[in-house]
Amino acid sequence: MRWLFVTLSAMLIALVGWAAVRDSTDRDYLSIQQRYQSDYNDTGFNVQIQQAFPQFADAKRGDTFRVERCISCHVPDLGTVGPEIAAQRLAQDFLKYEPHAQSIISQNHLTGVHPAYIANGTQVPSSTGKGTAPAMDYTVYGFTGTGFAPYSVTGNATNAKQGYQVDKTTVLPGPLPASVDPKVLNASQTNPAQQKVGIDQVGCIVCHNGGRLGLNQTDAHQNLIVNPQFDFTQGAKLYYTYCVSCHGVQGEGGKGPPLSNQDRLGYFNEDYYYRCVEYGFTDFEHIGSIMPNWGGVASDYTYDPARDKQKPGSRVLSEDQIHVLTQFIRHWESYTTLP
Ligand code: HEC
Ligand code: HEC
Ligand code: HEC
Repeated sequence: MRWLFVTLSAMLIALVGWAAVRDSTDRDYLSIQQRYQSDYNDTGFNVQIQQAFPQFADAKRGDTFRVERCISCHVPDLGTVGPEIAAQRLAQDFLKYEPHAQSIISQNHLTGVHPAYIANGTQVPSSTGKGTAPAMDYTVYGFTGTGFAPYSVTGNATNAKQGYQVDKTTVLPGPLPASVDPKVLNASQTNPAQQKVGIDQVGCIVCHNGGRLGLNQTDAHQNLIVNPQFDFTQGAKLYYTYCVSCHGVQGEGGKGPPLSNQDRLGYFNEDYYYRCVEYGFTDFEHIGSIMPNWGGVASDYTYDPARDKQKPGSRVLSEDQIHVLTQFIRHWESYTTLP
């Protein structure tokens, strides 16, 4: 009898222990918050689920603000420290805690300076009264801006072969929506050079996309745009060199389907978009179409002259370039339809 009792107790203890381990790995934001709290000696926030409430028109649905959970793990005291200190900590913490920091930096050209504001320029006077604070430039990346840092498209072999010449005056609306225009949100400040909206006001996903309510890294980082500035500029450059002839100047489609379709953007994740570009018509999803394979050839592909309109080409774009393009396509996802 006694041995039965001992065995059962041991099993119960093991079960409780297993549940505790499960519980703490499912809620990894808690340990990240505790680390943050001890690193910055910060008692200014509650070690509970942290939420941001972006303060602009599109962030509202009816009367309620749409919530973001990114700050459960990143700068959970954003509301108390303000945008400038938060921006510094975002960059510092990334360097300190991201094990693959170096490869993410080189792939996405991170500068290590996180914008604190959206403003009409790349710098604004700091709220501390001393010096300046970094900003993402709405006049370039905003809806009415030119959309991307200037570059010139020349008729290189690829787009010449497609018989398509990009109009060099093409203007693409930037990745930032009209509703975060600092001229509107900070209209009380009449000097345009001083108009600014903090990242505490706009939240994170307006620039980074991602799953706004995700509480583990995989869910939250779903379809993440890592560097909204580089991925947009570099993405536009690649897009206007290789893709515009079939998918249209604004992603509206042509010989190929539209890439700005909100239903498809909302439904398909970055793996799908990556595969489309990497394997093109050699993958089962696009077999027999004219979508070129910009990377490799799908493993189960065999050429069939009766079905295929072309033979697979060899790699034109590197894996990094295709990742940038998939993040660029994400920019067409409208803020209001993000999950
Ligand atoms: C469960 C915790 C967690 C949540 C929630 C979370 N992140 Fe992260 N994120 C991390 C960690 C950990 C890192 C790497 C270290 C760091 O930057 O502090 C990271 C890194 C990043 C990076 C750098 C690129 C990369 O791939 O490492 C970006 C950008 C980012 N997060 C944005 C977001 C956005 C936007 C949200 C909300 C949609 C979000 N994160 C929600 C944990 C999280
Ligand atoms: C105005 C647009 C914008 C907003 C809003 C924004 N970010 Fe970023 N984020 C950027 C840019 C641009 C970079 C690339 C910075 C660089 O060159 O290092 C970046 C980079 C990052 C990185 C990588 C580390 C670094 O500094 O390079 C992390 C982590 C991150 N952001 C998290 C967040 C979180 C969390 C929020 C919300 C609190 C947020 N971002 C809000 C534009 C933004
Ligand atoms: C020669 C014309 C052509 C060019 C150039 C082209 N595409 Fe396509 N693309 C297509 C066609 C046609 C399809 C539809 C394939 C099908 O019917 O399954 C397609 C499909 C796609 C899809 C899948 C869309 C969806 O909603 O399922 C993506 C993503 C895509 N292309 C991205 C790109 C990118 C990025 C480039 C530039 C690197 C590019 N395409 C260049 C013709 C083209």
